[in-house]
Amino acid sequence: MVTVDQVIGSLKKVVDPELHKDIVSMGMIKDLAINEGKVAFTLELTTPACPFNSDIERDVRNAMAGLGVKDLMLKVTARVMEGRALNLDELLPGVKNIVAVASGKGGVGKTTVSVNLALALAKTGAKVGLLDADIYGPSVPLMLGLKASPEVVNNKIQPPEVSGVKVISMGFFYEQSQQAGIYRGPIVSGIVKQFLTDVNWGDLDYLIIDLPPGTGDAPLTIAQTIPITGILIVTTPQDVAMNVAVKAVGMFNKLNVPIIGVIENMSYLACPHCDEQIYLFGKGGGRKISEDFKIPFIGEIPLHQGISAGSDSGKPTVLSDPQSLHAISFDKAAKTVAGRISIIAAELKAMEEAEKKQEQDTKPAA
Ligand SMILES: Nc1ncnc2c1ncn2[C@@H]1O[C@H](COP(=O)(O)OP(=O)(O)O)[C@@H](O)[C@H]1O
Ligand SMILES: [Mg+2]
Repeated sequence: MVTVDQVIGSLKKVVDPELHKDIVSMGMIKDLAINEGKVAFTLELTTPACPFNSDIERDVRNAMAGLGVKDLMLKVTARVMEGRALNLDELLPGVKNIVAVASGKGGVGKTTVSVNLALALAKTGAKVGLLDADIYGPSVPLMLGLKASPEVVNNKIQPPEVSGVKVISMGFFYEQSQQAGIYRGPIVSGIVKQFLTDVNWGDLDYLIIDLPPGTGDAPLTIAQTIPITGILIVTTPQDVAMNVAVKAVGMFNKLNVPIIGVIENMSYLACPHCDEQIYLFGKGGGRKISEDFKIPFIGEIPLHQGISAGSDSGKPTVLSDPQSLHAISFDKAAKTVAGRISIIAAELKAMEEAEKKQEQDTKPAA
């Protein structure tokens, strides 16, 4: 009959393809129990949106089969790791990861990407929030077909919810006040901070922030003063051609914040009649920038009428046309983003553990 040591030993050979660590050291095996040859345990994955989840589960099952375990009770769950600077925990204790979506200039599809990624992550079962930090041109409510005047309960703004995504936007409040102002960076960042502290976000795995466009004062201040897990940069092939993308990636690269990666929007024209992909502005620009800066490439999103129509009608494409190739491109990108966040969170955890250990080692003996 198998022993605990044998089970652990064999599970230690299963390596998370993204984190490059074995699943036992990562703490993914919980509640192991062996009873008369029956083996039961929980496999706790790092995100429900991990692109390799089924691979890991298959490897675990194979490992147990290799040990001759016939009766395996395997429960698979996911608990998203925390990847924020922990010293700012008091600001948002229930939020595990903050993703800031940035771009070199307006009109590249930053909001389209933010909205569809948020919905795609929520579809996997993750708890998701979306904060529209584009104070000058808040377009998130329109894209989600959301007209709301958020309620205030116990001094906290209740974020309206669309398909499992909690949403807050200045747009909700302009509608009441009828005025959109011009604010400087610190003021915008103040409003965004207020959206963090005064909104009842509850527990979230991912909070997506749609930053103001460009590399001006406002997006940079937010990216530096809010405990974000990482920045996701949206580019287009034209942006790449015009050098706007390089400038933006360079700027965000300089901030002391991890970059989740580059996502290229409007990469190619998806022919509505056949599956042909027409690269109007050249192929591989976004990927090249990611290689030049050594940051991950998240994926390509096609230029497709279904995407703009979805946004215009308040029914984003991942909801209105989930089987389409362009919706699937968002699903794939969402999983890659979630995987990247797991890596950043694991690195952060390892760093904290190393620091803790160093502190203990240098403590004078009592
Ligand atoms: N992949 C795409 N295919 C078709 N239209 C798109 C795509 N991405 C964005 N758009 C459209 O381009 C316009 C600008 O997008 P938006 O997300 O508002 O950009 P940004 O937030 O960067 O200013 C919108 O009309 C939107 O519907
Ligand atoms: Mg926008």
